Amino acid sequence: MRSPLRSTETVTNTPSLKRSKNVTRKTVLITGCSKGGIGSALAFAFHCHGCRVFATARDLQKVQHLKKAEIDVLELDVLDEESCRVAAEWVREATGGTLNVLVNNSGVGYVMPLLDSDIAEVRRVYETNVLGIILAVQAFAPLLIAAASQSGSEGGGMIINIGSIAGICPVPWASAYNASKAAVNSLTDTLRIEMEPLRVKVILAVTGLVKTHFLQNLRTTPCLPEASVYSPAKTIIDPWMTGKKADDAALDVEIYAEKFVRNVLRKRPKARYWSAVNSTSVWAVERILGGGTVWVCCMFLLIRKRYTG
Ligand SMILES: NC(=O)c1ccc[n+]([C@@H]2O[C@H](COP(=O)([O-])OP(=O)(O)OC[C@H]3O[C@@H](n4cnc5c(N)ncnc54)[C@H](OP(=O)(O)O)[C@@H]3O)[C@@H](O)[C@H]2O)c1
Repeated sequence: MRSPLRSTETVTNTPSLKRSKNVTRKTVLITGCSKGGIGSALAFAFHCHGCRVFATARDLQKVQHLKKAEIDVLELDVLDEESCRVAAEWVREATGGTLNVLVNNSGVGYVMPLLDSDIAEVRRVYETNVLGIILAVQAFAPLLIAAASQSGSEGGGMIINIGSIAGICPVPWASAYNASKAAVNSLTDTLRIEMEPLRVKVILAVTGLVKTHFLQNLRTTPCLPEASVYSPAKTIIDPWMTGKKADDAALDVEIYAEKFVRNVLRKRPKARYWSAVNSTSVWAVERILGGGTVWVCCMFLLIRKRYTG
């Protein structure tokens, strides 16, 4: 274990970064910081804004680029209770018992019609995206509560869960992922109430399309199995499932991260923070038309013809 440092240490001038001099550093822990993803970009952005970042990953090889930038890296598998406990203990030692911001970013996807879904994959998505957040929150809550009880610029405790527009708008062929993100919305809104007496803020980042390796990291190829009942529409559904068009339109991850960090560091951050491509339209459609209605209409127009001729 490395020698502990206080979270309230003073930042000295680092010319290559936009850090401000002589300010107290907020401490930020982010899960799932593998290179190319949202977690990695957030780690850089918080670091550039003068925060002390603990960038975590289940495979330390994937965060070496952050280590080179003098960001603290540590191992954390959100599905492993012991791993969460050890990481929290490490941070406790390093900061003297506080943590200002926990960003629950880790997540996995699964693109498959519900009728063709493999239950082991569905379970993995749920466990990582939902239970992973619960385990991390339980492990780091004492440090966040301790930070929340501090006053002044070094004080404040905050949990940020990375949600998705898919948890609001029922994007077809990804029911397991959508449902896991809808659960993230619900647990975040409930947690906000439960943490209020403890003065820990809870934020849901309702995230639209961001350019990362998310689709390349899927464990199974996103295409219809031969025996699928949707096979007559395979030529329409397969390109949709690969998400290629959505990926092309996605927001640059560094731009997303910069806006995200600015919201977090505001005096009054938005409790539900909508950001990235399609988030505004989903927000509007959901409120005005009802997301489900719109998607059912799209499906009707695109696929139904294949069955009816
Ligand atoms: N990209 C988008 O358009 C988009 C949109 C809305 C929401 N999101 C959400 O944003 C978050 C980050 O996704 P991303 O786009 O940056 O994808 P990504 O590049 O695939 O990043 C996912 C991260 O989660 C990590 N992870 C997976 N299982 C884990 C576990 N058991 N313990 C710890 N870490 C684990 C991955 O680690 P490994 O590298 O070891 O697998 C990786 O670091 C996810 O929650 C995702 O649902 C993304």
